[in-house]
Amino acid sequence: MATSKPKIFVTRDLPGDALKRLSKVANVSVWPEDRRIPRRELLKRAKGLDGLLPLLTEHIDGEVMDRSPNLRIIANYAVGFDNVDLDAATQRGIYVSNAPGKLISNSVAEHTLALILAMAKRVPEADRFTRAGKYEAWSPILFLGTDLRGKTLGIVGSGRIGTRLAEMLANGFGVKVLYSDPKRNPALEKKLGAKYARFETLLKQADIVSLHVPLLPSTRRMISTKQLKLMKKTAFLVNTSRGPVVHEKALVKALERGDIAYAALDVFECEPDIDCDMKDKHELKKMNNVILTPHTASASFDTRAEMADIAVNNLIDVFSKGRKPRTLLNKEVKPRG
Ligand code: GLV
Ligand code: GLV
Repeated sequence: MATSKPKIFVTRDLPGDALKRLSKVANVSVWPEDRRIPRRELLKRAKGLDGLLPLLTEHIDGEVMDRSPNLRIIANYAVGFDNVDLDAATQRGIYVSNAPGKLISNSVAEHTLALILAMAKRVPEADRFTRAGKYEAWSPILFLGTDLRGKTLGIVGSGRIGTRLAEMLANGFGVKVLYSDPKRNPALEKKLGAKYARFETLLKQADIVSLHVPLLPSTRRMISTKQLKLMKKTAFLVNTSRGPVVHEKALVKALERGDIAYAALDVFECEPDIDCDMKDKHELKKMNNVILTPHTASASFDTRAEMADIAVNNLIDVFSKGRKPRTLLNKEVKPRG
């Protein structure tokens, strides 16, 4: 008797051919629209599933999980997994996996570097100025920026992304590196001469503060008024981690007051809305000393295809190979089925 194929729902079409591979072993349906799936559609489509492959934009909680009594795995299409209620999944015996590939850390670090250079050299401001036809003559003081050589980078979180950024800036630009982290990172200290610092010390001493932490209760709004006041008035802040790590309203105030010089954000507190909790005033969008990108730090074809491969391999592990997903997050789970 032929066993029926597992039923898997994917909340958006993905780059590369991973979904084609998945379709050979599973009954796959994909949300067909090129926009985020609305919650009510998600709840409709989440019924009777064996596997779910969501994006980081979907909040996967107990309500979604309970649509499918046989759901065995949530294969998140992201490295971060703050969008999935891990405890609720563990209680229900559902595996949760993320998609940490070999390429993504470098992609995110490169994007972070692009943002840092864009701030230092004031690229978006100068581009807007030039396009507006305002360039009339060369000037000794037009768009004076900053050189990176000899400056100090402070990485908050010394995981793979923070480490890769530190490597690029130390080796390529002669930047000194400070890092703060719950754990010391002897490899980083040895390789780059990076110095371990308390978070507050790093904020006081760094010229560039770059955030590379997961979103946790302890990292939510870890950058707010108090922390921004500790930073140098000339400092740059860059966030390619998760929006709620920065208290956006406090950041706007700090930039207005000149507590810090510049900010570059790839992620937002109420993503995809910009200017959380500011009643549509769009302060960030109006500020010249702010650079905004739409959560595209990992957006290279190779990285996004690799992420799809990892998510799909996790599903194949469970449904075709009868083993645990290779990038399992809730290791203490007693699996269903
Ligand atoms: C992107 O933000 C990711 O977590 O992969
Ligand atoms: C960034 O999104 C990360 O995966 O740390």
